[in-house]
Amino acid sequence: MEQPMYTAKDYANLLGITKPTLLKMETQGKLPPPKTSDGVRVYYPHEIPHYLKKLGKPPLITSKRRQIFLNFKGGTGKTSISAFYAFRLAYLGMKVLLIDLDPQGHLTQCLGIDHDSFEGTLYSVLIEKADIRDVVLSTKMENLKLIPANLDLSPVELALTSMNAREQRLRKSIASIQGDYDVIVMDASPSIGLLNLNGILACNDLFVPVLADFLSYHGLKILFETLSTIEEDFDFIFENIYIFLNNYNASHNICQRAKEALEKHYSGYLMKTVLRQDIKIAEAASVGMPIHQYAPKNRGSLDLNEFIKEVFPNLPIVF
Ligand SMILES: Nc1ncnc2c1ncn2[C@@H]1O[C@H](COP(=O)(O)OP(=O)(O)O)[C@@H](O)[C@H]1O
Ligand SMILES: [Mg+2]
Repeated sequence: MEQPMYTAKDYANLLGITKPTLLKMETQGKLPPPKTSDGVRVYYPHEIPHYLKKLGKPPLITSKRRQIFLNFKGGTGKTSISAFYAFRLAYLGMKVLLIDLDPQGHLTQCLGIDHDSFEGTLYSVLIEKADIRDVVLSTKMENLKLIPANLDLSPVELALTSMNAREQRLRKSIASIQGDYDVIVMDASPSIGLLNLNGILACNDLFVPVLADFLSYHGLKILFETLSTIEEDFDFIFENIYIFLNNYNASHNICQRAKEALEKHYSGYLMKTVLRQDIKIAEAASVGMPIHQYAPKNRGSLDLNEFIKEVFPNLPIVF
């Protein structure tokens, strides 16, 4: 992953002004002086909120979100899509924290971060009462942070079992840093356990990636049954539930039939945007690069833009 930068034209476009206006306001001292890289004017994503404020425009989002990508089935795209989604949000100027809830640490790898390059995981926060700020890693982007995971996180399930308020520990830890971020995005492991329960109860939005096959369809039924028990037991309800089809191949008959079944039974939750199959997504994930840097013009990137527009309709996106 590299630090993304904008040209003056794209930055102006994103800010809803023209390039001449941007340059003129810089000369007049109404906007910060431009930075340069290799002699060219460059603009950074993390400065977007500051520019918007200077221009008297509304902030990127008005209500902070905590979002979890969850499905008890593996291989549906939780990790790759949550990583690329979070990166894209940060690219558009949001302050984003990604949390890896899976001891396999794939999310951490997806961002190109080595398993041995960090000390703490959520284990020290949830079990050893470490300050959550101590396990937040910086990335190459100033406005994208990560709480990583590796195998050190795996004893957390067992350790949580004997603790007080064991289901709410993550929610409580996060409360102290929510103010630092616009969006907190969690990538869950494909299991029903206490760590995922902590993730669920800490979030207000749920994303469920599903593949267009009937096993996934069945998995969705189990997921929703579990969620309704959680709703009852903890008096908890998600504000938004987004089910989306991922890895979709319209030329496969089974895909179309599975899509129809989802439309029929989950219409209230099903996103309009479908993430089509794109080998570049798998390639990007395997080399630890976000899709918007690896293949910005490919359908994986374009679909994810549509996806973000559906979740944050007011967010400006420059294609
Ligand atoms: N839209 C897509 N097109 C092609 N490959 C995809 C797509 N979404 C996910 N993949 C690939 O599918 C595999 C499983 O995805 P992953 O994100 O690891 O799923 P999960 O976290 O749910 O187990 C990975 O190799 C990933 O890169
Ligand atoms: Mg995963």
